[in-house]
Amino acid sequence: MKVWLLLLLSAWLWAEDSFITQYEYGQMLYENPRGIGCVHCHGKHGEGAVIARYKEEGKEVVLKGPDIRHVPKKELKKALEKRYRVMPTYFLTESEIEALHYYLSTTEE
Ligand code: HEC
Repeated sequence: MKVWLLLLLSAWLWAEDSFITQYEYGQMLYENPRGIGCVHCHGKHGEGAVIARYKEEGKEVVLKGPDIRHVPKKELKKALEKRYRVMPTYFLTESEIEALHYYLSTTEE
């Protein structure tokens, strides 16, 4: 009897764990997209962040990751595949990009 209860409980916990919403999936990818997390350069929710400050010829330069909360899905896809000077290139599937876009466009902060 006890064993059954335990089995039932673990099955239930496992199911709970594997059921995540599109928002949670998008957030997970945002933080850990098989590469450097977007979160390091674009802020906690895509609102943008300062990556670094340094001096160049005596002038202060501020390197920023832009606000990406309102980037259309097509542009998001392009940005991920493009070669930028600072931002890395990512290899994400269509459904991963979909989830990322969902997360960024529904995030409240
Ligand atoms: C190392 C820092 C860094 C990381 C990590 C990073 N980005 Fe960026 N991203 C930038 C910078 C800086 C730019 C501005 C273009 C440039 O100079 O590279 C940019 C540009 C973009 C743009 C284009 C914005 C626009 O207005 O056109 C999008 C969209 C974007 N990033 C999304 C992402 C997503 C999604 C991730 C994670 C999968 C990510 N970035 C990871 C630094 C980063």
